[in-house]
Amino acid sequence: MVTIGATSRAQEEFAPELLAVALYRGETPQDLGEDAAWVVADGDFGGKANETALLYGQSGPASRILLVGLGERDHFTPEKLRRAAATVARRARTLKLQTAAFSLPEVPDTPTCEIARTIAEGARLGLYRFDRHKSAANGHDLETFWIVADEGELEDATEGAELGSKVAEGAVLARDLANEPSNVATPAYLAETARTIAEKYDMEILVLDRASIEEEGLTGLATVGRSASNEPRFIVLEHRGGGEAAPVVLVGKAVTFDSGGISIKPTAGMEDMKFDMSGGAAVLGAMGTVGALELPLNVVALVPATENLPGGGAFKPGDVLEMHSGKTVEIVTTDAEGRLILADALSYARRYEPSAVVDCATLTGACVVALGAHASGLMGNDEDLIAEVQAAGETTAEKAWPLPLFKEYTEQIKGDTADIKNSGGRGGGALTAGAFLKEFADHPWAHLDIAGTAYGKKGNPYTTKGATGVPARLLVEFLLGRVR
Ligand code: BES
Ligand code: MN
Ligand code: ZN
Repeated sequence: MVTIGATSRAQEEFAPELLAVALYRGETPQDLGEDAAWVVADGDFGGKANETALLYGQSGPASRILLVGLGERDHFTPEKLRRAAATVARRARTLKLQTAAFSLPEVPDTPTCEIARTIAEGARLGLYRFDRHKSAANGHDLETFWIVADEGELEDATEGAELGSKVAEGAVLARDLANEPSNVATPAYLAETARTIAEKYDMEILVLDRASIEEEGLTGLATVGRSASNEPRFIVLEHRGGGEAAPVVLVGKAVTFDSGGISIKPTAGMEDMKFDMSGGAAVLGAMGTVGALELPLNVVALVPATENLPGGGAFKPGDVLEMHSGKTVEIVTTDAEGRLILADALSYARRYEPSAVVDCATLTGACVVALGAHASGLMGNDEDLIAEVQAAGETTAEKAWPLPLFKEYTEQIKGDTADIKNSGGRGGGALTAGAFLKEFADHPWAHLDIAGTAYGKKGNPYTTKGATGVPARLLVEFLLGRVR
């Protein structure tokens, strides 16, 4: 794994095999030697976002200079820098180098710490790959990635590099967990991962097995997990850094494989349903970062984890469940299982009298239809909290877009034989799912439907095909906002 730190040019040990310099569109490089000036003058490098030019020669400060574009200065966003850093880190790895350095660019009105953080995030995430199940490992890894600052900025740059690395590491854990196939990442495996986090960062942990889940009255979770031989788990991980303050509760859907159950899904694409635990993965990833940063907050993670499989003992359409909260639910389809396990987690959360509850879940195909891979659906019962979550996603470039929970959506899920039913039909599928969850949330609550954003095709320079880690960084940013 790459080490990311900050250094200054004056430092003795500073001898990178490659020095990357980020340039805005149309800018001429300064102090990089003749070749760098020529490549711009000749028009071979214009500074478009993610454009690169690799230069060799001894006239500059390093034997390899990599110019990387940031696009128009007036249209700068941190995301462009995140991507540029990822592009650089990947190129250095392709070149089989040990070290690469990235000169801190000048970004107006942005603290050095934030700039360095963004670079570190991009570099770490850009170098991510999931190859542990390949017999021939992919080989070379970059060892060190330096962020190069002036002497006066070194302290802030170091702080930013550390923050960015810790934040990225949370997303990396989320990716690793989500990319694991369901025969590895079972509910018990997720619980073991949570235990590891708890031990490393001195958190409280409680793991309920099948019997305890039933005993606790988590009927939704017990029912969805009833026919699976990989038993369900209910994971409770508590970070106590905030004294007597009311905690924030994070809830993550962790269906380690969603076959649809008796309402079985079609074969095509079913393998992707190993990613149906991405919400839980992101929550555990975020908790890792919470621990690493020793956030002065109380944060509780609730991860209901189960498989959804058909079988002789499986639940069936038409069944009626009495949920943890006491509400009754009529099963229309066993494929709307996520809301059942989340509903129980949301009502379990009440005991904490939380200041906020944020859940994330690969909940509906309808959300993918609505927003595609570009934004998560955002719903809730508290406008301020929704705005806070949206702003966090803006900062981390994990966009979340508000969707309405009109009372009509609640009417759409009124039950025939029970209080509510677990599907409202095709129309507004993401919203009726949100309306369902709303029935179980008492405190300020926000819901992120990440079905379109949690995994996908290779998207940008710092993602690979498969899990994205969304919304682990968003959750951390949201929590950081509550510290400030
Ligand atoms: N895990 C799926 C949602 C999903 C679909 C995630 C596609 C990622 C990509 C969820 O459990 C599900 O099956 N939802 C159903 C609900 C419907 C039956 C009411 C859906 O969206 O079709
Ligand atoms: Mn399903
Ligand atoms: Zn599901």
